Amino acid sequence: MLIQLSEEHLAVQQAAREFAQKELKPGVIERDSKMIYPKEQVKMMGELGFLGMMVSPKYNGGGMDTLSYVLAMEEISKVDNSCSVIMSVNNSLVCWGLETFGTEDQKMKYLTKLATGEWIGAFCLSEPEAGSDATSQRTTAVDMGDHYLLNGTKNWITNGGTSNVHLVMAQTHPELGPKGINALIVETSWPGVTIGAKEDKLGIRSSDTHTIMYTDVKVPKENRIGDDGFGFTFAMKTLAGGRIGIASQALGIAGGAYELAVAYSKERAAFGKPISQHQAIAFKLADMATKVEAAKLLVYKSALMKDQHLDYGMASSMAKVFASEAAMSISVEAVQVHGGYGYVKEYHVERLMRDAKITQIYEGTSEVQRIVISREVLKGKLYS
Ligand code: CAA
Repeated sequence: MLIQLSEEHLAVQQAAREFAQKELKPGVIERDSKMIYPKEQVKMMGELGFLGMMVSPKYNGGGMDTLSYVLAMEEISKVDNSCSVIMSVNNSLVCWGLETFGTEDQKMKYLTKLATGEWIGAFCLSEPEAGSDATSQRTTAVDMGDHYLLNGTKNWITNGGTSNVHLVMAQTHPELGPKGINALIVETSWPGVTIGAKEDKLGIRSSDTHTIMYTDVKVPKENRIGDDGFGFTFAMKTLAGGRIGIASQALGIAGGAYELAVAYSKERAAFGKPISQHQAIAFKLADMATKVEAAKLLVYKSALMKDQHLDYGMASSMAKVFASEAAMSISVEAVQVHGGYGYVKEYHVERLMRDAKITQIYEGTSEVQRIVISREVLKGKLYS
């Protein structure tokens, strides 16, 4: 392909592939069906540097580029998407948001722990009535002089029950709409933070998704990220990078399902020959190969644009919408190629199919990505 991977990129890709195959694959079916949080595996991801890949070494991170992160996400997502969403939220939303917009004190206090996996972070934007419509925040952060008083409920929070730090978006000046929202760093051990029940989900079942309640939580002023009212811009800018993470997760699901379908179709015989020799199956493989390749180009391009400090918002939305639709259609077809075997857990493709669906929903639904892209198009930017 035109995008050349360096020796360092190839080494990261290889390390992530080996970790996924050796450490994640053996228990992934059991963790998924019993909703067991991958505690040991997350610890290993921290030790191997997968939880703060792009953070500067000054704050204990790996100092790597976005493309390295995408390559690692892709390999891990071929196998275990509960682990890769934990990794994605910690890297792209929490660590990147703090490093880019936080103060030096905030970075020394929080980022140094989050980058190693000693602490895990969560990003708390969605609410019962503010999902895609993220400007309609009902959670309030009332200015009390030296601190904010935080009250409200957040929904669908990845790492909700296992994180030490939440980045919480809350409304301080309702009359200002999105310009009145603040982003606050909240420690989960503080009084007034309540973790609701763990969600029983279709996919990414061993990841830890919760509703969180904040009741009169005192958040010191120094824990606000950016100026007063910067919270919505913070969320949008951070999510533009987060979407590259989820796009790479979708790319991993698409590639993982495709690779399993190719291998199975060569082993399985019907009507006197391997099913790969039947055009009905070979054409499916051709379509999968084409979609994976196209998704890869979009995802890698958005990562390169971010690394080159170009405006990557449109590119990351394009990557996410295309890769997540590819993940969905390829994983459905991979189940079909496997026939009855595809419908049982042992062959892994049914899990990838269930995991694929969330990539079309979180960090902005496919519809939200189309809003972002079409706004740019109508402003005159025809291509990313
Ligand atoms: N950068 C900077 N500012 C931005 C911005 C960006 N990327 N996008 C919007 N803004 C600004 C706008 O300029 C606007 O300010 P002005 O009025 O001065 O122009 C203000 O923010 C409000 O923006 P919009 O009027 O565009 O807001 P909107 O209501 O029309 O919605 C939207 C825009 C794109 C739909 C947005 O709300 C959105 O992205 N929604 C989806 C939210 C989302 O992705 N949630 C995921 C939750 S996190 C998660 O899933 C994590 C997990 O655990 C896995």
